[in-house]
Amino acid sequence: MNTIYLDSTVGDEVRRQRLYNGQLFIFSPRPSSVALCEFAREMIEEAFGALDPLEAQYHMSVEEYVAIVAPLKPKFIHHPRSKELIRGVLEELGCELSKTYLDVPRLRMVTSDAYLTSGVGYAHHLHRDTWYSAPMCQLNWWLPIYDIESESSMAFHPRYWSQAVRNGSSEFNYYEWNSTGRKNAAQQIKADTRKQPKPEEPLELDPQVRLICKAGGIVLFSAAQMHSTVPNTSGRTRYSIDFRTVQLDDVAAMRGAPNLDSACTGTSLRDFARGADLARIPEEIVALYDSDPATNGDLVYRPPEAVAA
Ligand SMILES: [Fe+2]
Repeated sequence: MNTIYLDSTVGDEVRRQRLYNGQLFIFSPRPSSVALCEFAREMIEEAFGALDPLEAQYHMSVEEYVAIVAPLKPKFIHHPRSKELIRGVLEELGCELSKTYLDVPRLRMVTSDAYLTSGVGYAHHLHRDTWYSAPMCQLNWWLPIYDIESESSMAFHPRYWSQAVRNGSSEFNYYEWNSTGRKNAAQQIKADTRKQPKPEEPLELDPQVRLICKAGGIVLFSAAQMHSTVPNTSGRTRYSIDFRTVQLDDVAAMRGAPNLDSACTGTSLRDFARGADLARIPEEIVALYDSDPATNGDLVYRPPEAVAA
């Protein structure tokens, strides 16, 4: 990891390869990403009514704040317009929609001064998304909805791109997490008790790199990057959008970033839908990534029909 590409115009294939090698890409706001952020902003501002969403945290109890933002998240995630706008971003940045699969976009808020640090406002400790069953070819797209500062950004920890870290990913199974962990997030106001794969040795925060772009700018990085949420001390709540993509040829060939230290089971690949028509990744390809049913008992993927039966 040694390069940050600003507004690079290389094609998607070269870009993916560089991302798998640990490089970072950052893009200035462009029409499609501005449209996505404007859509999110409208939704946020409608929810807060007369209050400024960036400062609303200073005018209400944490429980009241959660009551406003908790329903916002699923509303944004499941709104058909969100996906449509993301397709626009991918297209504008040269991704082939017939081969690029995306998961649902997430809307996140990080309040200032540790007002809300768990559940819906969870501030992520140092982690790689690949500890959470993301495939090694997953790319993460991150956009601030309002302008950010260094004190309210996200950080990359470049030394760990090529340095393995002892971590709890071997105890993480994606299917188990989905059935127990995520649905409890709104109740986790004071302390987060959900089991997350964390580093199990002391890590150095520095050197760290924080990429600051304008609202509607885009930070693009490999899911294998060690990254974290900077504890927000900016005095304003940070709101951001993120989503993930995988490219079918890379999934099928099991290409991607090197796996230094992820030992989780299960895969998030069934969450992805093709940009062009929302088709799922063929099951025989996903199966390449799945836990071995012979050894994992209850921890294997079960289609929803099988669970209901
Ligand atoms: Fe992450």
